[in-house]
Amino acid sequence: MNNKYLLEITNLCKNYTNENNLKIEIIKNLNFTLNQNTKVSIVGPSGSGKTTFLNIIGLLDSEYDGNFYFKNKDISSCSKDEMNKTRGLSIGFIHQFFHLIPELTVIENVMLPLLINKNEKKTYEISKKLLLEFGLDERINYKPLKLSGGEQQRVAIARSLVNDPDLILADEMTGNLDEDTANNIFKFFINYIEQKNKTLVYVTHNKIYSLLADEIYQFKNKKLHIVNE
Ligand SMILES: Nc1ncnc2c1ncn2[C@@H]1O[C@H](COP(=O)(O)OP(=O)(O)OP(=O)(O)O)[C@@H](O)[C@H]1O
Ligand SMILES: [Mg+2]
Repeated sequence: MNNKYLLEITNLCKNYTNENNLKIEIIKNLNFTLNQNTKVSIVGPSGSGKTTFLNIIGLLDSEYDGNFYFKNKDISSCSKDEMNKTRGLSIGFIHQFFHLIPELTVIENVMLPLLINKNEKKTYEISKKLLLEFGLDERINYKPLKLSGGEQQRVAIARSLVNDPDLILADEMTGNLDEDTANNIFKFFINYIEQKNKTLVYVTHNKIYSLLADEIYQFKNKKLHIVNE
């Protein structure tokens, strides 16, 4: 294990079983390393395995074979509880469909990842500051469904950053927005990531967005292939 990496994966294999009980290989002998303060994009055809891979490195899926170290911790030997704790402390996830909780207000959605281990007043202040930076200070008491798609995605981005994560994962985060809104959100998001020196892995179908990464990978033939080398 080379401890300069934030994340190091070797020989990752992931299979699903289909309805006929046949094994389908999605990821086979994949190797991947991620440096701190790096932006990585992943492109590739629909169904190639991008989300499957992101769910594994986001500690949402533990059903795989291979070696996986995150912040020098051997994830493949962690319990579910340890994985959940590590994810809560260190990882922020942004999804295509925002995944906001409709019953909660904007600020409650953003506060959610922190409520487990921090006091509520402090959590409220941190969340409010983020929402101000994201131009949403006048919306903090709205329910998500009263917001536009772009505003909802900014809330989801704020929520992914509220725990000051070591790693941010974004899965086709602008895929559900119109082109202008998508461009604005993506530009804003990338600027924020660069300013704060964050580490980001993002999946996108948009070639222009993918080119803004430091390293570009294509998911093909069950593996990641570096594009810009
Ligand atoms: N729970 C599951 N059970 C069985 N097969 C699955 C499951 N989840 C995903 N798959 C299959 O695994 C393959 C990879 O899916 P994945 O969602 O990772 O693709 P993707 O590259 O993210 O595609 P897209 O660009 O459309 O989001 C697909 O063929 C999909 O049908
Ligand atoms: Mg996907």
